[in-house]
Amino acid sequence: MRVGLALLLVVTGCAAPVTPMAQRAPAGRPSPQPPPAPPMMVDPDILARQLTGNQPGWPISPFPRAPLPRLLDCVKLKCVALTFDDGPMDATAEVLDTLAAHQAKATFFVVGQMVSDQTSGLLRRMVEEGHELGNHSWDHPNLTGISADSLRMQLESTQQVVQRYTGVKMTVMRPPYGATDQRVAAATKREGLAQILWGLDTLDWRDRNADLVARRAAMAEPGDVVLMHDIHRTTIDAVPKLLDALDGKGFTYVTVSELFGEMDPGREYFDKKAKPAPKE
Ligand code: NI
Repeated sequence: MRVGLALLLVVTGCAAPVTPMAQRAPAGRPSPQPPPAPPMMVDPDILARQLTGNQPGWPISPFPRAPLPRLLDCVKLKCVALTFDDGPMDATAEVLDTLAAHQAKATFFVVGQMVSDQTSGLLRRMVEEGHELGNHSWDHPNLTGISADSLRMQLESTQQVVQRYTGVKMTVMRPPYGATDQRVAAATKREGLAQILWGLDTLDWRDRNADLVARRAAMAEPGDVVLMHDIHRTTIDAVPKLLDALDGKGFTYVTVSELFGEMDPGREYFDKKAKPAPKE
């Protein structure tokens, strides 16, 4: 995708009107030879088709259509928000298959540089099957340790690539490593993104054991946000097991926006568990 974006910039540059060098040369001096025109590296029409996942000659397909919003009352239902970070990868398709078999909705916090012609079909499928897309930065830095410009680029470029492929303007983000501070809060607020952390960490990135990951996820309580990563084979293998376990406890699987409802950009959200009543 980096190459694609670079090419896009080249195309944009080529499209700008250029005053021929000869016209700008001061009178009386020999006109310098105009530089040779740069080779056309990419046909804008072909690029446009690539970015919309179409083949040459095919009509441009419309953006994927999300199902109608669900009316869910997570005060009465046992809701849990499963979240998958760091993809999409080809194997993410297996997670989508398993979720579909359980009629489960989830949230995918995608890394911008993972979004390409090859993986964009997965994003489109997520949208069509009622899952939520979230921004997980362009290349997964610790956002608290980079410049203000880099921070903005990390968020904006990911917003742009997802929007270009799906039409979706994401409203939630997860800071890589859960690392956030006031600057990150301000930057996410500017981008219209709520910060979604988690209530239950399956530690699937550390413990590459599907049974262990499934057991931890199955400990979710109503209102939990569960952290997982769809880039690990063991996590993908854990998903059928954890869904079986949570099905048995009567959980409803919701997106983070379904769990929290309307959210404030910039603010941090961890879970929506019922808080114990204050002591009299
Ligand atoms: Ni991550």
